[in-house]
Amino acid sequence: MTDKFTNEEKNGLYKAIHSRRDVRSHFISKPIEDEILSRILNAAHHAPSVGFSQPWNFILIKDPETKKRVKESFEKERERSSQLVEEPKKSKYLSFKLEGILESPVNLCVTYDPSKFGPFVIGRSSIPEAGLYSVCCAIQNLWLAARTENIGVGWVSILSNEMLKKILDLPDHIIPVAYLCLGHVDEFSSKPDLEKKGWLPRLELKDVIYFEKWDKKENFGWKNIQEIIKTNLDYP
Ligand SMILES: Cc1cc2nc3c(=O)[nH]c(=O)nc-3n(C[C@H](O)[C@H](O)[C@H](O)COP(=O)(O)O)c2cc1C
Repeated sequence: MTDKFTNEEKNGLYKAIHSRRDVRSHFISKPIEDEILSRILNAAHHAPSVGFSQPWNFILIKDPETKKRVKESFEKERERSSQLVEEPKKSKYLSFKLEGILESPVNLCVTYDPSKFGPFVIGRSSIPEAGLYSVCCAIQNLWLAARTENIGVGWVSILSNEMLKKILDLPDHIIPVAYLCLGHVDEFSSKPDLEKKGWLPRLELKDVIYFEKWDKKENFGWKNIQEIIKTNLDYP
């Protein structure tokens, strides 16, 4: 397990990263094989975590009644959030498909438990949010592993956490971090839906990298990489 990656393996990882998509509308009804689901969950469980606290839990959901209640929370929150934006953006927002709660065979709530191995966790005393960041690392592992298994994942955050806590019987101290929809798909889009529909563009790499200090886009000591990142580095 400590050997170096071959070129083929390396390309496999980059392929997973660049072809991973948030999936909302391409789920098919075929159930996810339990072996596959177990591998995906195991990948999530091997994420880095602050102080090795492994503060996550994964609640697997397929009960249609639970899904229905979560979908109701989505509808409510979508309506509420649409009041925050003016026309014509409002109608555009409301026209987007932003969840696949009922269509996906498996829903998964990923939670954060700040009390696990607590109260002292190495590395969490100065930045308490490091616990939440760890859960996000697990979610990203899960998302990439799912992509390599050709399983689509969609993250639904247009939900009330209070409702989720009630629906899923979460204790007070447990925080729902992600509500995910998982399933086989008929295709993975080549680009994010929100990019394809002209909501927002992908920023250029060169515009998100600074050198040495905030907002410094030029620096002689970093000249070579400045040139490289100006070119189109998209995965083929
Ligand atoms: C924290 C988080 C919350 C998200 N919430 C939603 C959501 O409620 N509904 C949705 O359709 N997509 C949601 N997404 C997916 C993003 O819209 C998507 O990642 C982004 O548009 C880029 O597309 P891609 O994931 O296909 O590359 C969420 C993503 C993240 C990371």
